[in-house]
Amino acid sequence: MYTDLAPWFHLLTHPSDYADEAAFVSRVVDDVGDGSSGTLLELGSGGGNNASHLKARFECTLTDLSGHMLALSRTLNPECEHLEGDMRTLRLGRTFDVVFIHDAISYLTTQGDLRAALETAFVHLRPAGVVILTPDATTEIFKPTTDHGGHDGEDGRSLRYLEWTHAPEPGASTYVTDYAILARGPGDELRIVHDRHTLGLFPRATWERLIADVGLELVDTTVENPYELEQAAFVARRPAT
Ligand SMILES: C[S@@+](CC[C@H](N)C(=O)[O-])C[C@H]1O[C@@H](n2cnc3c(N)ncnc32)[C@H](O)[C@@H]1O
Repeated sequence: MYTDLAPWFHLLTHPSDYADEAAFVSRVVDDVGDGSSGTLLELGSGGGNNASHLKARFECTLTDLSGHMLALSRTLNPECEHLEGDMRTLRLGRTFDVVFIHDAISYLTTQGDLRAALETAFVHLRPAGVVILTPDATTEIFKPTTDHGGHDGEDGRSLRYLEWTHAPEPGASTYVTDYAILARGPGDELRIVHDRHTLGLFPRATWERLIADVGLELVDTTVENPYELEQAAFVARRPAT
């Protein structure tokens, strides 16, 4: 999905579908930030769908493991800085007012990897900066699901998909989502792809412990998450001193 099919990503999940999530991030920053939040670093920014809304409010630096996804994001967000890097090891040598990690953090499948990404967030936050993490699930809210969707592009390409999220093995810290993807360009044969994703699943208490371990302070927010039944959200701050 993030290599060969990267140019198709906006037909799988369209930027317009992300307005509510981006608005949630912006409202949380208003709620818990110190009033001077202008720069935002996104780790695992993918197709830049969230960023396409966030850039109206923040100066965005977008980073991802996949150069193919960054290339797609540049077409949508040419005014944003794009940098290739792994959220577990990225070190830019500068700090931001906000660090945001959306669903990309779900690709970390061990506590060690999760902790490494949280350290990356910590070192890129200025004192009193805010980090917002929205993984697809925690152990408590996980549900096996099926979903489907897709879009028709203005360039004549079309894509449809079936998404099937399976229950984890008892006690496992990962689960699997299978995608069946059908893609067709103008005049092309229909292409059918099976793409399997292995994602991390941790209890809320593990997230909270790892957030505290790297030196971040969890913060309560009263902002309502529009996706709270399908998505977890953690908000934390780097201590002011
Ligand atoms: C579902 S996409 C993100 C879409 C994004 N939320 C958006 O608004 O377009 C997941 C992304 O996570 C990236 N990713 C997975 N593991 C990563 C890692 N360790 N470091 C950085 N990016 C990673 C993938 O390359 C992919 O682009």
